[in-house]
Amino acid sequence: MGFFHHNAPDQPSSSDESSDLTADSTIRQWLEHPAGGKIFRAMLEEAGQNEKVLAPVKNWPLKRVAGMSKGKMTDEMIADMVKRANAGETDTEGEGSVSIAPTTEVSVEPSTPVEELNTSEWRETITPGRFGAKTIIVTGAGSGIGRATASRIAREGGRVVAVDISQERLNEFKASLPDANIETVAGDITDSYTVADIVAVAGDTIDGLANIAGIMDNMTPVHEVSDEIWERVLNVNLVGTMKLMRATVPKMLAQKSGSIVNITSEAGLRGSAAGAAYTTSKHAVIGLTKSAAFSYTGTGIRVNAVAPGGVATNIEAKFDSEMFTERFGVAVGVMPAPTTAESLAASITFLLSDDGVNINGAIVPSDGGWSVA
Ligand SMILES: NC(=O)c1ccc[n+]([C@@H]2O[C@H](COP(=O)([O-])OP(=O)(O)OC[C@H]3O[C@@H](n4cnc5c(N)ncnc54)[C@H](O)[C@@H]3O)[C@@H](O)[C@H]2O)c1
Repeated sequence: MGFFHHNAPDQPSSSDESSDLTADSTIRQWLEHPAGGKIFRAMLEEAGQNEKVLAPVKNWPLKRVAGMSKGKMTDEMIADMVKRANAGETDTEGEGSVSIAPTTEVSVEPSTPVEELNTSEWRETITPGRFGAKTIIVTGAGSGIGRATASRIAREGGRVVAVDISQERLNEFKASLPDANIETVAGDITDSYTVADIVAVAGDTIDGLANIAGIMDNMTPVHEVSDEIWERVLNVNLVGTMKLMRATVPKMLAQKSGSIVNITSEAGLRGSAAGAAYTTSKHAVIGLTKSAAFSYTGTGIRVNAVAPGGVATNIEAKFDSEMFTERFGVAVGVMPAPTTAESLAASITFLLSDDGVNINGAIVPSDGGWSVA
């Protein structure tokens, strides 16, 4: 089963109680299963969590969510859960306590008070043909927000040039949508040869560019930041974004149309969401977006940015600075619950699509209201 469901909106919302659970059964199916639900809830309770923490990933298979536990929830543990659930053994004595809360960019120490994850049951609705006959480049398409965006475009009829540094993730994504029009380019977006490859694979027309690939820093303030973190974070988040824009804009100018969506962050809007390197990179992405939007006004090219708040993805933030961790604790109280990658894809694809026709130079927070707190 793929990371995201091809037809998530049409999936049955309740499981057949008599059917067997497997590692591929979704969190929802586990929770709705009489024995599986009991076993699962007991595990969460022992870890000091409840099922609401899993709301954004309810349609994900258990094994995928377990993959986010950073090795704490092993294949053996899952096999044992499956065996006991299907045998109806709900005795939870001695159950391991494993934290499987999804990682978000702003994941915090367990003791920090964080609001519960967004529990709303919003579901993606596909608009058939919205991207018909359009070629859209999506970077970071192997995971999280990039993958959800690439998937949505592909399922809405677009031709996707899916880019990621991980060939394995791209293969998995492509295999999850066998009937879709997806071409993959594995490589580092900071590398000029990769950028040239991407443009070559896209071909004569590039209708859209979603610059989504990005990495977090290690939450260090400027006096503690290493050259290595500074250079890598600025290179991927800012220089890679610029290189893709520089390489694609000439084609868009020639065809007199094109939509570019860059991904900034709450950290592009405030100083309290990440360390010095990431915050700088995401503020700079906003500058780059506005400069381009101004420069190309009237040419048919639109350039906008989306600023996500907390999203449950594979991105990782290490807290390497005691000083910053303490300061971060002060700010985290105004942070709304994290959301899903699909809800970010909804914002991004709106701006990429023709419905964004009159929007140029906008920095759109897609954060449940964090930016106004
Ligand atoms: N998750 C959040 O809470 C959050 C919040 C605000 C902003 N963002 C931004 O959203 C974007 C996507 O992040 P995500 O949370 O989906 O993360 P993710 O780690 O799940 O996915 C990012 C993908 O980008 C790829 N990638 C990383 N560096 C690359 C490079 N140099 N070249 C090509 N591919 C590369 C990774 O392999 C990965 O598949 C990032 O720009 C991130 O800064 C995320």
